Amino acid sequence: MKLFAVFGNPIKHSKSPIIHQLFAKQTGIKQNYKRISVPIYNFKNEIFYFFKNGGVGANITSPFKIDAYKICHILTSRAKKSGAVNTIKMTKSGKILGDNTDGIGLLKDLQNIKFIQPKSKILIVGAGGATKGIIYPLIKFGCIITIVNRTYQNAKNIVEFFQTKYLNCLRLEDLFNNLINNKKYNLIINATSSGIQGNIPNIPSSIIKSNIFYYDLYYRDSLTPFLKWCYDLGGEKISDGIGMLVEQAAYSFCFWHGIMPDTKIVIKKIKNLINFNKISLKKD
Ligand SMILES: NC(=O)c1ccc[n+]([C@@H]2O[C@H](COP(=O)([O-])OP(=O)(O)OC[C@H]3O[C@@H](n4cnc5c(N)ncnc54)[C@H](OP(=O)(O)O)[C@@H]3O)[C@@H](O)[C@H]2O)c1
Repeated sequence: MKLFAVFGNPIKHSKSPIIHQLFAKQTGIKQNYKRISVPIYNFKNEIFYFFKNGGVGANITSPFKIDAYKICHILTSRAKKSGAVNTIKMTKSGKILGDNTDGIGLLKDLQNIKFIQPKSKILIVGAGGATKGIIYPLIKFGCIITIVNRTYQNAKNIVEFFQTKYLNCLRLEDLFNNLINNKKYNLIINATSSGIQGNIPNIPSSIIKSNIFYYDLYYRDSLTPFLKWCYDLGGEKISDGIGMLVEQAAYSFCFWHGIMPDTKIVIKKIKNLINFNKISLKKD
């Protein structure tokens, strides 16, 4: 049976194996898909070991997407434009081919749930591998993006990488002034990994408004810390990253097998499985 895996650290929480199992069942493809926890400084060795030992394709998650970009021999144009890789496969000639399906997966989900329009003004909080992966499709769709990040230099590096007037960054402290100056965003995306430790990024609470959409790339079995914070402060249009997870997985599946699975049915199944804790949405 063909071997696939998701590499990350931490990885225990990942729902990718279940999603790929559902896609495989739906399309009649036989595959074995597992989670691989990678020690922080051993990514390259683990990937080469995997392909040497029968691996066919892999997903790469936090914090290795930029490392994955660097080890690929060939890149799709999506991956080249984003500077980060979340999907790889071994070609017949023994080369590692990298793609990035995060951005297209996020855009698809934002469209599914009607959180986005061309010309939407988006604030992205975070400047890691996921942020790099989502910028290009959002700009191509017509959006205007501002990035804010704990480490300003990482946000600046992303802006320099893309070199477009539709993308800029702010220092965290400037975000406060920006809000005072009434700069309006339509959609705020949390692309930090702070939720994994149960934290929220340090952004001003004055940013929360009832007419803004809030999307957290992170997901877990209950409401994410960021979405709970938004909701408690009056932000009601909220979504976690489950839909994106399924959509990006579908593009990965298609990259490996050449078949696009039906995602709507899988999103529904995964949401039911996770038993999304709606009770925590009730205000005190
Ligand atoms: N739903 C999906 O399909 C999907 C897909 C991709 C990613 N994700 C999620 O997106 C998140 C980011 O992933 P990634 O690959 O970009 O990770 P990453 O490359 O490790 O980057 C992490 C980012 O989070 C910031 N950060 C970490 N802890 C923070 C804290 N306590 N407060 C404020 N900022 C903090 C980092 O800031 P510094 O630069 O200052 O270190 C950096 O910008 C993860 O939660 C991941 O699970 C979801």
